[in-house]
Amino acid sequence: MVDDRNTLKKMAGEKAVEYIESGMVVGLGFGSTVIHSFRLIGELIRRGELEGIQAIPTADLIADEARRAGIPLTSLEEHPRIDVTIDGADEVDPELNLIKGGGGALLREKIVAQATTLNIIVVDEQKFSPVLGTNYDLPIEIVPFGWRPLEEYLRSIGAEPQLRTKADGKSFVTDSGNFILDCHFGTIDDPYALSAELKSRAGIVEHGLFLDLASEVIIAAGDGIRSLKRN
Ligand code: A5P
Repeated sequence: MVDDRNTLKKMAGEKAVEYIESGMVVGLGFGSTVIHSFRLIGELIRRGELEGIQAIPTADLIADEARRAGIPLTSLEEHPRIDVTIDGADEVDPELNLIKGGGGALLREKIVAQATTLNIIVVDEQKFSPVLGTNYDLPIEIVPFGWRPLEEYLRSIGAEPQLRTKADGKSFVTDSGNFILDCHFGTIDDPYALSAELKSRAGIVEHGLFLDLASEVIIAAGDGIRSLKRN
């Protein structure tokens, strides 16, 4: 029985690497779980067991991690289609819908996910819940110009928004120069309706509901790894 969370993350992260084959364009997601995938991919490249891999990182920080792991990088300009992306998530429901954005990379993560044929999500069992919003607030990326009226708008549709800040108290700024409002909605019973509502508001760049995007979720639990696949 494994109960150390980092070991569970490593189990899930490494399991996903089974999907990577030589010559693939690979999307690199964000977080402490996928970091284990990157390290293993780098190791397989060094050992000559994976060749011709080109990777697209979802954040500047991830590009640095990938370089450190020895994974060659490319861009969406050169490769607008990605074969496999391995990414983490902040919450997963039984329909394989996700809340993402805890690391602030949700915009690029969603662009990469939508450009990907096979999206593999890696989590430990604590991320799994019956309804999105049970355990995690919804990150919403907004244009800084409109942050106050957008905060009011989000309150008007039932959220309790909190502007994300850094340790020094300054606003967190995404790689695309935007702010994030972490929004407590409580349980989100109809994520599709909420997604449509949020997408209709000017100034909301993207939100962290990833609906119908995950092909498979690999969940590491104390008694082993299980996987949920989209039908
Ligand atoms: C990043 O914006 C998120 O979507 C991450 O994928 C998420 O926070 C997962 O991180 P951990 O694997 O560290 O929990």
